[in-house]
Amino acid sequence: MASTSISTIPTIFSLLLLFTVSSCHNITEILESEPDLSQFNSYLTQTKLADEINARQTITVLALDNSAMDALTANRPLSVIKNLLSLHILLDYFDNKKLHSIPDGSSLTTSLYQTTGPKSGNVGAVNITDSKGGSVRFGSGTPGSNLTSSYSKSVKQIPYNISVIEISAPIIAPELLNPAASVDNITAVLEKAGCKTFAALLSQSGVLKLYQNQLDKGITIFAPNDEAFKAKGVPDLNKLSNAELVSLLQFHALSTYAPIGTLKTTKGKLPTLAPGAGKYDLSPSTAGDAVTLHTGVDSSRIADTVLDSTPVVIYSVDSLLLPAELFGLSPAPAPAPESDSPAPAPAPEAEAPAPEGDSPASSPPAPSTQAPANAPDADSPAGTPADLKSKKNGGERSGPVMMMFGSSVVLSVMSLVL
Ligand SMILES: *[C@@H]1O[C@H](CO)[C@@H](O)[C@H](O)[C@H]1NC(C)=O
Ligand SMILES: *[C@@H]1O[C@H](CO)[C@@H](O)[C@H](O)[C@H]1NC(C)=O
Ligand SMILES: *[C@@H]1O[C@H](CO)[C@@H](O)[C@H](O)[C@H]1NC(C)=O
Ligand SMILES: *[C@@H]1O[C@H](CO)[C@@H](O)[C@H](O)[C@H]1NC(C)=O
Ligand SMILES: *[C@@H]1O[C@H](CO)[C@@H](O)[C@H](O)[C@H]1NC(C)=O
Repeated sequence: MASTSISTIPTIFSLLLLFTVSSCHNITEILESEPDLSQFNSYLTQTKLADEINARQTITVLALDNSAMDALTANRPLSVIKNLLSLHILLDYFDNKKLHSIPDGSSLTTSLYQTTGPKSGNVGAVNITDSKGGSVRFGSGTPGSNLTSSYSKSVKQIPYNISVIEISAPIIAPELLNPAASVDNITAVLEKAGCKTFAALLSQSGVLKLYQNQLDKGITIFAPNDEAFKAKGVPDLNKLSNAELVSLLQFHALSTYAPIGTLKTTKGKLPTLAPGAGKYDLSPSTAGDAVTLHTGVDSSRIADTVLDSTPVVIYSVDSLLLPAELFGLSPAPAPAPESDSPAPAPAPEAEAPAPEGDSPASSPPAPSTQAPANAPDADSPAGTPADLKSKKNGGERSGPVMMMFGSSVVLSVMSLVL
């Protein structure tokens, strides 16, 4: 395959980067030797919190034995269980010694929930109090909460990377018990997040049905925002056949639940909803907190997590993801020199081509440096820095796409939206 030689260097580079960034511990493996914690371990895997733990370098896991887990799960939906369990993952390192040397004997520490859930008050904080009798107690950080859980034993410490401690009872913040609104209308969620064009294409092409059928089983959606469709160099979607458009849209989703920690710890390729073994795959890479998806033709930064409600996650992305199967391969420009900016791509492969004068006539191409993550949407927290790298438009394209199938679907959608 011609693509292999082109992408080998960037791939190796991003793998190296991933190894140095994340692979210092494996919580699943650590807990495997503890039969009492098997339920806890299993739920960390199901909710993908295990990936989140493995992606972080300084972390304390407050583990619960199987009977405490029964109390925590108690017929609750997986999204609530995930919220509750994220409160048991502290973003700091606490071993026995440190627990007993907390200044003034009591402190509030940030949990993983704080980084993912709505950030109101101290809901995502955990109160650790070293009582005079010598036992250390844990509770929700909300004022006046009861510290109903206490230190049981140490499970594993790798100073100062990960500490696993068993505690006696679940830490429950009542605010976390309400199930997240289930996603019953993908269109509405996407429209609200500034992805109207994408939503309209999904619905007109029928691919929306496919997405909807995955809502119970698990789905990850990479939704290009409206700016992405107007960006310079975006191929003319009117020139795609209906089948090609369907593949393109299927390419923007996975049939599994892959929250951000999972994307960060993924080494290798992720199959998308577009069918074909070994085809239509996406390769994520991570730099700091930024995750970039590589298609082999272009790459796109994940701009924002629009919604994460296990087993559904919806991201907005900066650019259309162009599968190599549809948009061919072009000779890649030399890998961009590393810069110290938080921009993710270690080495963008061939960037989106820039056919002259091919953009939708109705609207001038948006400046490519614009930050679409800051679309006026009060509800989506800006999780990632919005300082986008301007995209380079290099490379000539000679892909197989340019057949002239008029697609009235796309035309009407584009005119509807633009
Ligand atoms: C962590 O360990 C589990 C169990 O040993 C294994 O299945 C999994 O692949 C490991 N994860 C990583 C990221 O290495
Ligand atoms: C922790 O909780 C206890 C009991 O509610 C409270 O007295 C204490 O002030 C809390 N600690 C902090 C740092 O908020
Ligand atoms: C804490 O415990 C006391 C005594 O059991 C109870 O009256 C109170 O409602 C509890 N507070 C909270 C916030 O659960
Ligand atoms: C802790 O993490 C750092 C950074 O990933 C790593 O260099 C170090 O080897 C780790 N320490 C141990 C004891 O594994
Ligand atoms: C979903 O939301 C969209 C946009 O708000 C609306 O037009 C559509 O009727 C809704 N669909 C259903 C099935 O409620």
